[in-house]
Amino acid sequence: MQLKKIKIGNIETPNNVFFAPLAGYSDAIMRSLCYTLGAGLCFTEMVSAKGLYYSPNASSDIIFTYPNEKIKAIQIFGNDPEFIKRAVDNPLIEKFDIIDINMGCPVPKIFSNGEGSALMQNFSLASKVIKSACQGSKPVTVKFRTGITDDKPLTRDFAVMAEDSGASLITIHGRSKTAVYSGECNYAEIEKAKNAVKIPVIANGGVFSVDDANRLIENTGADGVMLARGVLENPFLISNLTGFTPKFTLKQFILKQIELASERYGYERSAILLRKQMAFYLKGATGGKKLKEQVFSASNAGELINIIESSNCF
Ligand SMILES: Cc1cc2nc3c(=O)[nH]c(=O)nc-3n(C[C@H](O)[C@H](O)[C@H](O)COP(=O)(O)O)c2cc1C
Repeated sequence: MQLKKIKIGNIETPNNVFFAPLAGYSDAIMRSLCYTLGAGLCFTEMVSAKGLYYSPNASSDIIFTYPNEKIKAIQIFGNDPEFIKRAVDNPLIEKFDIIDINMGCPVPKIFSNGEGSALMQNFSLASKVIKSACQGSKPVTVKFRTGITDDKPLTRDFAVMAEDSGASLITIHGRSKTAVYSGECNYAEIEKAKNAVKIPVIANGGVFSVDDANRLIENTGADGVMLARGVLENPFLISNLTGFTPKFTLKQFILKQIELASERYGYERSAILLRKQMAFYLKGATGGKKLKEQVFSASNAGELINIIESSNCF
């Protein structure tokens, strides 16, 4: 894929390879490491607009950032325009440059609350939410899916609504809400949306290799890609696309991640929090199953470091 800068309101990203909001994974540590691999833009995981208002301390890990995060983008979810406005005006998120609104989350608890992808069923409310976010001083981006079900795609019309409501960029996950995270990405739907709007369109879904990224861009005409699970399995997918020379080997990258997590979340808690991430790194690795068992039994960061250091999986 061809690298290019992306304009998001008054912000310009250095390239069009983005790292996705990923609940439980895209924390400040992962984001700052992804920036060292040349990521153009990284997003926090989704944070509740109401949660930010009523119990801001509960979101403190999500909204924590490191100074080396070149551009800071926070993802907010919610369906109440008033709370969205309060969130964008909240001094706690003043440091973020971009506000992304989640309109794609399929999780039953979120969907049944009328939030996340449920907003794709209610264009008028979705528009109010976006307009409300745009009342703040930051550019607003929106991430959504192809629709609720595969047989009733909404991609193009939702993209037009988002642009008309003031969004500066949209990211389209090329799957419906019912497909959740499986199946092929629907290129044609993303292409239709791309052809209908003037704002930049980022395509997302199923990119695990450079070839996947090339195919996604060629088939959709999108302006850039958003990488998600592909990076959790192999962070160097970012540098493979951006042409950056990584400063670390994968083993060093993982050890740095554990060290930073230990500092930030504590010696014991970090080992538990990193288990699922380690499982992604070990997917398909020779001897990975045994190592995964060891990783899951590590009770602190020191043990985890010893396990990773002595493994030949990386
Ligand atoms: C564990 C997990 C957590 C996710 N959390 C979020 C989130 O907080 N916000 C969001 O917009 N999407 C979230 N997503 C969706 C991803 O950002 C992305 O759209 C999806 O994984 C499809 O891309 P992929 O096929 O390349 O993984 C999550 C996905 C996974 C697997």
